[in-house]
Amino acid sequence: ASASATTAAPAAGGETKAGEAKAPEKDVKTTTLKLAFNQSEKHPQYLALSEMSDAFYEATGGAYRIEISPNELLGSQKDAFELVQSGTIQMAMVANSIVENVNPDFAVLGLPYAYDSVEHQKKVFTSGALDDIFASTEANNFSVMAAFTAGARCIYTDKPIQTPADLKGYKIRVMESQTCIAMLDAMGGVGTPMAQGEVYTAIQQGVINGGENNEITYADLKHYEVAPYFSYTRHLMIPDLLVMNTATLKGMSEEDQQTLKDLCKEYTEREFQLWDENLEGAIKTAEEAGAQFIDVDIAPFQEACQPVIDNVTMKSEGAKALYEEIRSLAN
Ligand code: GCU
Repeated sequence: ASASATTAAPAAGGETKAGEAKAPEKDVKTTTLKLAFNQSEKHPQYLALSEMSDAFYEATGGAYRIEISPNELLGSQKDAFELVQSGTIQMAMVANSIVENVNPDFAVLGLPYAYDSVEHQKKVFTSGALDDIFASTEANNFSVMAAFTAGARCIYTDKPIQTPADLKGYKIRVMESQTCIAMLDAMGGVGTPMAQGEVYTAIQQGVINGGENNEITYADLKHYEVAPYFSYTRHLMIPDLLVMNTATLKGMSEEDQQTLKDLCKEYTEREFQLWDENLEGAIKTAEEAGAQFIDVDIAPFQEACQPVIDNVTMKSEGAKALYEEIRSLAN
């Protein structure tokens, strides 16, 4: 069951503040779709989603708006994901690794070195190559609406990491999935799964030696304060997934469903652009606070990760076919 709130929309022709969508047509009831987000209002995904909310409101004549709760206000990604499945909230942005726990084929989207470049990833996310896997989760009460980029993840700790040997004995926090743990182990360290919100304190207290993430999250969460060396291993371009309660989606008119799907594609592209625009600023913020960004020869890490790739792609025909399709879009 879905618990989306339906409220009377403001009367037509009312004043609108900058950045706020126009008032709906008269007598239209606005249904609010609650969306959980674990990062800040400055994050490119938040910016893209909030533009998308305005566009959806306009396109449906005020019938729908998406209300984003940032900063883990609705809980960690894992909690938010359960709330979407139960219909307590309608949408959430969650890391691909969380969905991988429901359909193991999703692991393919988050395999180390699966994408050669941002352009390659954009092609995969917008070409329709993922439509089948996105629809595969409906029996679990959620639909995957879009894959948003989250840049390229790299290792950060208390020293530069140039080779797998440098990671020996280093406990590095990873997202909560078997693939992420196996990947970090293969890279030479000790993969330690944990929710994002706990990482800063865990590094500070010496429970772990560091983490792995993109520059924007690294800067946003001030992880540079406790792990000032950011080494460009670029091992993981794992997407975040916009998930939606399936009953809520199917409860919308065919036309509104299509509108939302089209907007999800459009704002997938827009988020790539916003990511690009925000990247330099994040690096600068971290550098000004003393962080060092270190270039790394990725070849030894790539080689070390090959068994992880083989292990996931050998698990099912679907996984193998999807991996081949992703790779075929590389050029
Ligand atoms: C990135 C990603 C998030 C994820 C986080 C993490 O910031 O965008 O979805 O939660 O990494 O490491 O947990």
